[in-house]
Amino acid sequence: MDSGALLDLLKRRTGFTEAHAAILRDLGTLMAPLAPEVALAFYDYLGRDEELGAILHAVPGRVERLYGTFARWYGELFSGVYDRAYAEGRRRIGLVHARLGIGPRAMIPAMGIVQELSLEHLRTALRGPEVYSAVEAFEKIIAIEIAFIEESYLEALALGLSLGHRDLKEALAQGAAALLQAGHT
Ligand code: HEM
Repeated sequence: MDSGALLDLLKRRTGFTEAHAAILRDLGTLMAPLAPEVALAFYDYLGRDEELGAILHAVPGRVERLYGTFARWYGELFSGVYDRAYAEGRRRIGLVHARLGIGPRAMIPAMGIVQELSLEHLRTALRGPEVYSAVEAFEKIIAIEIAFIEESYLEALALGLSLGHRDLKEALAQGAAALLQAGHT
């Protein structure tokens, strides 16, 4: 499925409206400056896991680069703009992780940590009833983010299997590599 069409479907299924986009954009002034702090806590969490820490440190300079890319990703959660370009970027992020063999068992708990860190900030920053609509909008965009990752993994796995890879991890990684190359992304 085309990324833009998938985004429309996910917005409909999560009940994500322009009102939620506006809430996230308004939260941006509060949350986007926290991106470097969330990135630090995030990679600290990943680094404490033996397997994931080894992936992070496998390439010199990788973690340092990731602080920046992750902080950008985090800021985009609160950009208020969730369009085709956003959708294509999210598909690519899923494929980049799939190519590295970083599966759902790593990505889904990691997304849980992003939620934990963010909700903590929201709770302390917003003390009135506005916290409820903020959490609602935030949870909807996170559901969309997770769905994009899962869908890109399925797409990669299906292609990898059709290319003849019988080992599932290999099929996922090779399928993702082929899709990234096809899109030159
Ligand atoms: C909430 C979950 C995660 C988010 C939002 C996230 C975000 C990102 C982003 C935005 C990129 C850059 C993608 C690109 O090149 O376009 C990236 C790359 C990468 N991520 Fe993640 N990530 C997540 C989970 C993980 C986990 C669990 C690991 C495990 C170690 C990981 C390791 C990496 C690695 C190794 C790269 C490639 C870095 C390079 O270019 O050398 N990520 N991530």
